[in-house]
Amino acid sequence: MSSWTSRATGDPSVDGWVALHQAEAWASERIDPQTWDYVRGGAGDEVTLRDNINSWSRHRLRPHVMTDVSSLDTSINLFGARLAHPIVIAPTASHARYHPEGEIATLRGGAAAEAITTVSTLASLPVDEIGARARELGTPWWMQVYIQRERSQTYELLDRAVEAGAGALVLTVDTPSLGARDRDKRNPFGAPTGIEFPNVPAHTVHPDPTPAHRRIWNPHLANNVTGDDITALRDRYVIPVLAKGILRADDTRRAIDAGASGIIVSNHGGRNLDTAPATADVLADIVAAAQGHVPILVDGGIRRGTDIVTALCLGASAVLIGRPIIWGLSTYGAAGVAHAIDILRTELEMAMALLGAADVAALNPDLL
Ligand code: FNR
Ligand code: LAC
Repeated sequence: MSSWTSRATGDPSVDGWVALHQAEAWASERIDPQTWDYVRGGAGDEVTLRDNINSWSRHRLRPHVMTDVSSLDTSINLFGARLAHPIVIAPTASHARYHPEGEIATLRGGAAAEAITTVSTLASLPVDEIGARARELGTPWWMQVYIQRERSQTYELLDRAVEAGAGALVLTVDTPSLGARDRDKRNPFGAPTGIEFPNVPAHTVHPDPTPAHRRIWNPHLANNVTGDDITALRDRYVIPVLAKGILRADDTRRAIDAGASGIIVSNHGGRNLDTAPATADVLADIVAAAQGHVPILVDGGIRRGTDIVTALCLGASAVLIGRPIIWGLSTYGAAGVAHAIDILRTELEMAMALLGAADVAALNPDLL
């Protein structure tokens, strides 16, 4: 990664990056093949991975015309903060695989595009360093939580993250095991080696005594995460705790009862349980189950401004974007991260104008 240079002119808008999907091919040329398999891949036969993308466009938007949209406003209120738009950077591991500055480049891109960055527990840089940079940049960030088997190790990390300025905790509840990622298994060393995770214990003994080819447990993913962990985080920290990876109405209620301040509807980008439903197909049920008590966010396959308005019409408060951020990061660094969000934000504004929705409050199920 030390020989990294920005792609072509170095300016994604000059190079004609006009839609998110264009950058996928560029990223595939820059990221080494094993890592690329890890990024693009899903679990099993990748049914859910494909469905995530397709499901948004199964919805049809029914626009209002003859509406004054001259003062278009994409801003939202989330956990007491006003955000310029509803696009959040999803947590993805190991940004040093994609750019020598790792998560700092992502954070700079997010700041430039006025987006919250969610930092993975499996980030390439210590949370304190990321938090210090966020403070300098004046940009908000959230901390994603992979609970470690030894809870005290997780609390020690989160104490540091909160001290460093994390604005919310995103507790991932859908990953007691990774899914059947054939691409990673086929690669000679599984997911690429030489990757460091400075925010989790370095010398964790592998918890699974079975031979490597039959293992399902990962040393950095506790397989007993429950509502009690939500409650424990809620009791220990003052910042909101979001439960990420919910796909069912009953689990939504359980997470809220346990103390979640927000829900992220997610199937982990199709990387965990294959044939799990696309998030677009379960979002409305989850919004109904939450009864307005907490905001509902959603991720998975969001690639267009029309996908975002669809999510908001279905009742989401905001959306998270995973892989396209990696495409931007690996091709143009911070500028690519910012450009990916700017593309979506611009498409969101167009879609709102064309729908006759001057602000996000006007996005409702009647437009579907
Ligand atoms: C992820 N995701 C993820 N989620 C999480 O909670 N912690 C993590 O460390 C990671 N790491 C990760 C790595 C890579 C390479 C990918 C692609 C995804 C899941 C991520 O937060 C999000 O749920 C999905 O990526 C959203 O789907 P799209 O936008 O990638 O289609
Ligand atoms: C992944 C884990 C690390 O999806 O969240 O690769």
